[in-house]
Amino acid sequence: GIPKFVKIVEVGPRDGLQNEKNIVPTSVKVELIRRLVSSGLPVVEATSFVSPKWVPQLADAKDVMKAVCDIEDARLPVLTPNVKGFEAAVAAGAKEVAIFASASESFSKSNINCSIEESLARYRAVCLAAKEHSVPVRGYVSCVVGCPVEGTIPPSKVAYVAKELYDMGCFEISLGDTIGVGTPGIVIPMLEAVMAVVPAEKLAVHFHDTYGQSLPNILISLQMGISTVDSSVAGLGGCPYAKGASGNVATEDVVYMLNGLGVKTNVDLAKLMLAGEFISNHLGRQSGSKTAVALCRV
Ligand code: HMG
Ligand code: MG
Repeated sequence: GIPKFVKIVEVGPRDGLQNEKNIVPTSVKVELIRRLVSSGLPVVEATSFVSPKWVPQLADAKDVMKAVCDIEDARLPVLTPNVKGFEAAVAAGAKEVAIFASASESFSKSNINCSIEESLARYRAVCLAAKEHSVPVRGYVSCVVGCPVEGTIPPSKVAYVAKELYDMGCFEISLGDTIGVGTPGIVIPMLEAVMAVVPAEKLAVHFHDTYGQSLPNILISLQMGISTVDSSVAGLGGCPYAKGASGNVATEDVVYMLNGLGVKTNVDLAKLMLAGEFISNHLGRQSGSKTAVALCRV
């Protein structure tokens, strides 16, 4: 069977916007977050406290966080690559953070400029600091099925990194198909390997939709007992350090599928679509959500 309730983790304001070339004004980011929260989403990843040289779009992380940290209806985690980022995040009012490792050595180097082992050492320091502040930490594993440089990634490598993040105290581990190459054929053995070392209820799936495989991958993940799904409003996104990768699966499409399955999410699809329309209008392009495009016509 599949879970009766799925927790959707909206990553649009972070994963969705980080790849946008034109700088989106802080006020637009803040308004987007507010609209997403008011659609009923329980978790909205707000921004990243990363190097502004590496991700210029999110250089206003402090201002975004200060403007939204009083919101109480949703959790608003932020990405932190090291203790420096963690301290800046907490100072700006963040109450939850996420660390991001990779199952691919090459991607670790290109995304965070260090090896997997070095990143795990950094993240242990972040987890220690977070424990002192009672700040929950989410852990990401990137490139869980494929890497732009190394190609196919062995499930054992993903399981190893996921277990390390879990053991250092992450309350949830999100498994990212960063470049969106996975199909259920490869996602199933990957999940089996990870679920042998981290319980399914502590796992989330994070699919980019480059090959249009996200919904089947999500469905199979739900059937395997996972009940947390990452997605991005209007299908925004991509990773600046993963060339050619497209946006995350669109939140509207995930909600449409879950509604059809009778699975509760607490999300109001109509309000969510308005948030998607708001940011698509700002970016001057059509929504990347098939559901949003279809429902706008009827
Ligand atoms: P580095 O250049 O190796 O860092 O970058 P460093 O420690 O040598 O420091 C260099 C400079 O950066 C120094 O400043 C530091 O102070 C500064 P300078 O002295 O030159 O003026 N610095 C910082 N500034 C602000 N905030 C910080 C910070 N840390 C150092 N936290 C670093 C290493 C990790 C910082 C860099 O590589 C970085 O910021 N990378 C982030 C890349 C990123 O955000 N990628 C996208 C998110 S991951 C993703 O999208 C995948 C995911 O969605 C899951 C999936 O899809 O699979 C999560
Ligand atoms: Mg991502």
